[in-house]
Amino acid sequence: MALTFLPQNPLEGSAMASIVLIFSLYLTIAFLVVIIAQILGLRRSPPPFLSLKAKSLRKKRFSGVNFASGGSGLLDITGKTSLSLMKFGTPEKTPLAAPSVNQKNVVSLTEQIQQFATVKRNLTAIKGGRRVTKKSLFFISIGSNDLFEYYHSNSSIPKEEFLTSLLLAYENHLKNLIDLGARKFGIISVAPIGCCPSQRIHNTTSGCLEDLNDLAVAFHARLDALMFKMSSECKDIKYALGNAFEMTINVIQNPLPFNFTQVEAACCGAGKLNGESFCSPYANLCLNRDNYLFWDLYHPTQAASKLAAVTLFNGGPQFVTPINFAQLAMA
Ligand SMILES: *[C@@H]1O[C@H](CO)[C@@H](O)[C@H](O)[C@H]1NC(C)=O
Ligand SMILES: *[C@@H]1O[C@H](CO)[C@@H](O)[C@H](O)[C@H]1NC(C)=O
Ligand SMILES: *[C@@H]1O[C@H](CO)[C@@H](O)[C@H](O)[C@H]1NC(C)=O
Ligand SMILES: *[C@@H]1O[C@H](CO)[C@@H](O)[C@H](O)[C@H]1NC(C)=O
Repeated sequence: MALTFLPQNPLEGSAMASIVLIFSLYLTIAFLVVIIAQILGLRRSPPPFLSLKAKSLRKKRFSGVNFASGGSGLLDITGKTSLSLMKFGTPEKTPLAAPSVNQKNVVSLTEQIQQFATVKRNLTAIKGGRRVTKKSLFFISIGSNDLFEYYHSNSSIPKEEFLTSLLLAYENHLKNLIDLGARKFGIISVAPIGCCPSQRIHNTTSGCLEDLNDLAVAFHARLDALMFKMSSECKDIKYALGNAFEMTINVIQNPLPFNFTQVEAACCGAGKLNGESFCSPYANLCLNRDNYLFWDLYHPTQAASKLAAVTLFNGGPQFVTPINFAQLAMA
């Protein structure tokens, strides 16, 4: 959920699954200023790959590319099956909901990495040498859509086995990025997705779906182990792993200090908890979105995303390990 506030405008309800790549070809200090400015919303975020022009790579101010794609997952199949239609609500209920119409347009993580390979080839041709990726930051936030689809498919694959295959896929993606020169990773695990309005409506008490949250917790533990293993195998890898579960559950359990008064219902949507359909021109819209954790049935508000970004950058070991994103940027 976190860094995805960077790529989109309007910022509300940005997609969760992404690679955001920041090149720090220039001074680290200048780079940090850019990031901090981005947190404050003062400067444009990296352009999406699909809108990138060949000549923008030559610009002096070129600072990164966003490959993120809503609905994508670690598994190539995630976001591309009819299951995701169910996940996003039936088409009858949400005739205007983009995700159910545009399933084919999901760009899998495999494809995102191929897109990065293209950019890297072009950049290397322009700038030459190894400098292109060694100091660049790779932000990756992915996994929730894989877990959603597994959970709602009532799959006969046991939970442990599914998680093993998911983490194997993650390892392969990271190895491909490392082969392409990536060394610094800012990684965000899966939030308590059982607490989304779209999931709470399946609980008679409107509580979170505990099984889905358990999957998110198990995913984080395995990702933590994977990153530790990979950084011991390859010494020049540096990473910061954001615990999106801890960060978010902390806010849900104690919302007021963070200025949130509504952490169950979505700001925009329809039905119970505004969690039965996507935000559309016909949906309900809350008046005080800054006091809501959820913008729509799945996605956080801009206020929640900013809080997450600040926590990732400056947070302590309860939320981000073994270093935070600010330390990663300087490492
Ligand atoms: C990369 O270079 C290829 C030609 O080698 C060109 O077709 C493509 O548009 C370029 N893409 C970007 C994003 O620079
Ligand atoms: C999974 O099980 C639930 C409850 O038993 C049911 O409502 C749902 O339709 C099932 N989903 C699939 C994809 O079979
Ligand atoms: C529903 O929410 C309650 C808390 O309100 C929780 O105790 C219960 O386990 C939840 N049910 C499911 C199926 O997750
Ligand atoms: C807190 O919420 C109020 C609306 O109730 C809003 O006006 C204010 O900007 C919020 N404060 C912060 C720090 O986000």
